[in-house]
Amino acid sequence: METTTLETNVQTKTADFLPLLGTDYIELYVGNAKQAAHYYKTAFGFQSLAYAGPETGVRDRASYVLVQDKIRLILTSSIKSDHPVAQHHKKHGDGVKVLALWVEDAYDAYEQTMKRGAKSYMEPQTLTDEHGEVRMSGIHTFGETVHVFVERKNYKGTFMPGYVEWKSHYNPKPTGLRYVDHCVGNVGWNQMNPWVKFYEDVLGFKNILSFDDKDISTEYSALMSKVMSNGNGYVKFPINEPAEGKKKSQVEEYLDFYESEGVQHIAVATNNIIETVTELKNRGVEFLKIPQNYYETVLDRVGKIDEDIKPLSELGILIDKDDEGYLLQIFSKPVQDRPTLFFEIIQRKGAQSFGKGNFKALFESLEREQELRGNL
Ligand code: FE2
Repeated sequence: METTTLETNVQTKTADFLPLLGTDYIELYVGNAKQAAHYYKTAFGFQSLAYAGPETGVRDRASYVLVQDKIRLILTSSIKSDHPVAQHHKKHGDGVKVLALWVEDAYDAYEQTMKRGAKSYMEPQTLTDEHGEVRMSGIHTFGETVHVFVERKNYKGTFMPGYVEWKSHYNPKPTGLRYVDHCVGNVGWNQMNPWVKFYEDVLGFKNILSFDDKDISTEYSALMSKVMSNGNGYVKFPINEPAEGKKKSQVEEYLDFYESEGVQHIAVATNNIIETVTELKNRGVEFLKIPQNYYETVLDRVGKIDEDIKPLSELGILIDKDDEGYLLQIFSKPVQDRPTLFFEIIQRKGAQSFGKGNFKALFESLEREQELRGNL
């Protein structure tokens, strides 16, 4: 029952019409950006970078920009109820609004995607200040999520025009998070393939990996997933849809509580998952628990690894392998009260896949959490 396909070379011979340099930032709309920023600094080790709000002339919202190595998070909340950010928060709770993509040419990115069928979110615009200019544009994707294209080659400032540098006296140490490895979208029943086609047709992505519901025993909360990657592999969006199983799909639980399609998890890379997760746990980040019997057989499955199994089992870190190497990964519990957005911490040691060998243990763990919430 081998249903996984992996194309290791996703480069095409034709020119990439949407060259991406990486993830520029991820913006969350939250209920209380000031407090959320404190959490992401304290718990995850993000650093204060920039701020926009009433004190800087922005009358209707506050945005805190945090950074850790190559990862930039923006936390935004509105300060009045009749504001689109407030409406978004009322419906979805805290969640990802913007997956911003770093491009060479934001005007061209808009033109290329619009002529291929994108729906406009932000017409191309140029923002300027004394540090130069940032050009931006944006299109809609699944749910109320959007992609903003950011071109910053002529900008030397802290973040972008409209923001001031945020100097804080409170600067908890980083936890070793390095870059965004992938961001996963949850879409509705029978919506995976239409969104796969959207990423293929409109953004020029390729489907590099697929999991169908047979990959996940129907005993467990089933889902189907296809991993979409841009040409250079810097940006990867797995797309999940629920599948029929004996129990309610974890994707369905997400859709019920986010009240639409949206971003399920953000996977961030580290060079030392044992150190990073030890630190995150000490700072209060909660992770899914994996039964100890997982560790009795895991090395038979994945072979020799560099790390000691003891700290991995104590922390609940999962191990998987593919033809190119192995990976270590762990999943946080949802980072807000709704069972929606969570984080994955991943360390790749050659493997370019997504941990299919861990689905069973992982989904059993997710189901225990779903059951505790009364949603299974
Ligand atoms: Fe993931």
